[in-house]
Amino acid sequence: QTVAVLFGGQSSEHEISCISAATVIENINRDRYDVILIGITEDGRWLLTESVEEIRSGAWKNGTVRAVVSPDNGHHGVLLIDGEQITCRRVDVAFPVLHGLYGEDGTVQGIFELAGIPYVGCGVLASAVSMDKLYTKIIVDTLGIRQAGYVAVRKEELSRMDEVTARVEAALAYPVFIKPCNAGSSKGVSKAGNREELISGLLEAANHDRKILVEETIIGREIECAVLGGTEVKATGVGEILAAADFYDFEAKYHNAESKTVLDPELPAETVEEIRRDAVAIFKAVDGFGLSRVDFFVTRDGGEVVFNEINTLPGFTAISMYPMLWENRGIAKPQLVEKLIQMAFS
Ligand code: DAL
Ligand code: MG
Repeated sequence: QTVAVLFGGQSSEHEISCISAATVIENINRDRYDVILIGITEDGRWLLTESVEEIRSGAWKNGTVRAVVSPDNGHHGVLLIDGEQITCRRVDVAFPVLHGLYGEDGTVQGIFELAGIPYVGCGVLASAVSMDKLYTKIIVDTLGIRQAGYVAVRKEELSRMDEVTARVEAALAYPVFIKPCNAGSSKGVSKAGNREELISGLLEAANHDRKILVEETIIGREIECAVLGGTEVKATGVGEILAAADFYDFEAKYHNAESKTVLDPELPAETVEEIRRDAVAIFKAVDGFGLSRVDFFVTRDGGEVVFNEINTLPGFTAISMYPMLWENRGIAKPQLVEKLIQMAFS
């Protein structure tokens, strides 16, 4: 059987995706599967890639053969376009190791649906809803699970900035977080301690998305839980992120060695159980399938559990929380990758 692994992508998380993909590919059972590696450049070209080494070095970006998943169900695979020559290779299952926009948001999943190719992870709806911070909020509200208070702002409303700031200040106390609804990895996110910072934060967020979320600041520990499953969903224990920076921003997350992850952090057993229960409930509520990492805060005063976000294609690098949480449960990476592939066929 042939697995097509997609990586890179037109996303602010392009680089992380390449590192995640290298880890996934190294853990695919090559006795069982042939692989086709498809790198998507930041400007959206789909290139056939030969090896993990090419991915690690970035040399794949010099590739000349296009490898395009055809939406034509009759192709059921990839068109390899080398100059004038076009060949078709069947794909049995696709593994999108793409984070953020155009990969984790349902767009690529839509191509696999059209092509009739089974794929790892969440479907179109779950991917789209989970990538959109506002729609995730709306769904989680229906579960009665606590999350940060919020105000939604549309870009066009920023021309009446006085009204927007009044609406935010009536609902939330400073400091607040300002986030584009639809961008990955903290890009365009800022924190505002006063009206002036709120205005500049809104304008900055508007460069990334036309919908913006202003959120209450939750002072808490960052606790994450991994889920896996389809009709039957299992959750791991929890892990904690010890961020080096003021908040877990893009730099701290991927370039600062002092950001650390801790498995089974000290927490009351009932708090861990609540997080595991909420993680499964949220995954089901967004119509999740396959995998997700669900992120929470546990408040510093009171130890209350507050939902933060769900990632339907979580980081899968050697030091990422998702695979580490499963390893901690006795499921090593090769086994985890195999389970994810098998689930795609179910
Ligand atoms: N979006 C990154 C990759 C994560 O959540 O792990
Ligand atoms: Mg994310």
